[in-house]
Amino acid sequence: MVIDQSRWDSVDEVEIESLLQQMTLAEKIGQMTQVEKGSLAPEEVTSYFIGSVLSGGGGNPEPNTAQDWAQMVRSFSEAALQTRLAIPLVYGVDAVHGHSNVVGAVIFPHNVGMGAANDIDIIRNAARVTASELLATGVHFNFAPAVSIPQDIRWGRSYEGYSENTEIVTRLGVAYLRALQDQEPRILGSIKHFVADGGTKWGSSQTFDWLTGNWQAPGDTYSIDQGNADIDEATLRRVHLPPYQAAIDAGAKAVMVSFSSWQGVKMHAQRYLITDVLKGEMGFDGFVISDWMAVNQIDRDYEVSVITAINAGLDMIMVPYDFKLFITTLTQAVEAGDVLVERIDDAVRRILRVKLWLGLFDTPFGDDALLPLVGSDTHRQAARAAVRKTLVLLKNDGVLPLSKGERILIAGRGADNIGMQCGGWSISWQGAHGSTTPGTSILDGIRQVSDEVQIIYDETGNFPADVSAPVGIVVVGENPYAEGFGDDGNLRLGVEDQAAIKQMRARCEKLIIILLSGRTLVINDELALADAFVAAWLPGTEAEGIADVLFGDYPFTGRLPYTWLRSVDQLPLDVLRSDERGPLFQLGYGLTL
Ligand code: BGC
Ligand code: BGC
Repeated sequence: MVIDQSRWDSVDEVEIESLLQQMTLAEKIGQMTQVEKGSLAPEEVTSYFIGSVLSGGGGNPEPNTAQDWAQMVRSFSEAALQTRLAIPLVYGVDAVHGHSNVVGAVIFPHNVGMGAANDIDIIRNAARVTASELLATGVHFNFAPAVSIPQDIRWGRSYEGYSENTEIVTRLGVAYLRALQDQEPRILGSIKHFVADGGTKWGSSQTFDWLTGNWQAPGDTYSIDQGNADIDEATLRRVHLPPYQAAIDAGAKAVMVSFSSWQGVKMHAQRYLITDVLKGEMGFDGFVISDWMAVNQIDRDYEVSVITAINAGLDMIMVPYDFKLFITTLTQAVEAGDVLVERIDDAVRRILRVKLWLGLFDTPFGDDALLPLVGSDTHRQAARAAVRKTLVLLKNDGVLPLSKGERILIAGRGADNIGMQCGGWSISWQGAHGSTTPGTSILDGIRQVSDEVQIIYDETGNFPADVSAPVGIVVVGENPYAEGFGDDGNLRLGVEDQAAIKQMRARCEKLIIILLSGRTLVINDELALADAFVAAWLPGTEAEGIADVLFGDYPFTGRLPYTWLRSVDQLPLDVLRSDERGPLFQLGYGLTL
């Protein structure tokens, strides 16, 4: 693999040092501060020398259009240029499957589907399209790709991981990162969440009484997210670390630290892993960013938290709300000698170096000329092509491919539901049902196939008694969720979905079940009722890609990125892999057609 290190190597160290020499402590700490856009006015970027602003999940301007995003981001970027040294700002978002907070942006399949596709071109196209939609709105920093390697699919972030398999995650994560960064102008990726976020144990999520009121602490709904990875160092290195090394070798310049703990200690306090291993042994020369208010979880005493995190090796803190408190706390810690100025200088050097490398000193804004491309037809075609490759055919008793002259009954909550097919991290943090953003539903995709196809649709499948058809399609699945809100100890379809399947089974000679989910679920009964079963994961806005494959215009090629369970007592996945009952389907399974 040839890596373009030249631009990084040519970053002007003299310029960095000269800036650093001129900077006051306040200017330095400002660079280390990342604030959520709703928690500060543009003028405060100027007066506090803020180095980075972000939009969290759903952190959109009103109205939520690409134009308004561009204006919002520009107002912060301009404010940074008003500072004495005019150090440009870097704006960050979670464009984890397209620029997915923006209404009208194209939304790609979530990573679990990309893992099923396991196709480098598809990943690259997704990254490039995302990069241009980000640039259109002035965003230069993407909190992606997640290189999580989920080992227990009860985890609500399982779909953010490409696979349970380290090699697949490494291959796809690196391809995504490179496509994002190896173009002009480049978008800074951020590999996350360092490290072993996918290795936490069911039941190990913590709550922090000192955080309530200030920010929603995980609460009772979290069971595994942000929990503890109770694994030895050899396992951590073998399973979870490889994508980081590969990404660093491919030019990763930002790493986000995980909310989770390793061996009972919060990752944000892990000096050994962050400073000794990541920055030392692994040679990471970019900056390390915290997760959302994760620093506050370290200790009841905020000052202790800040000192611990910075001394552990965190360079930029996603505060994200009370930035004044963070700045005062860190300033006092430096003045008291609890954090050395050398540590601050190291952090600031890393941040400045990345900003220079990104070209922000020359081009601090986005490119308005790209605005018409946001959600454009070309971009949607790239997502549609991705969707085709993500589908895994689990069963087919001869009903697929469908003929274009068919009479088809269609039902299920997911059939005409853009929000559900997008899942979490789509327009809002948790995602939502319904028409949240423009796109093509599965039903609309099928309707577009041919005038010859006769479609009869009812969401519940409760058609009049005399209605029946040779073929039925029922689209069922999970409600949208993100992070620990998706932690689920049951992994079963809801009653509405089960009812729709039964209704359809009674009326259709051949029944196709399409599953929209962020992970494998317990589907033994549903599989038995189906003549064909398609795992479609969370395909995003362009579901015509599903019709393309159902009707045989494109083949089924997707393969399971996760071993498929029979029951939840087979979890975590290492148990499932060695369980004598065997999995329902092996990792890599997928019928081709
Ligand atoms: C934000 C998310 C963030 C979360 C913290 C939400 O309010 O919108 O972006 O990840 O809080 O976990
Ligand atoms: C998530 C990160 C995300 C950040 C900003 C956190 O809650 O864990 O993955 O990048 O919020 O939205």
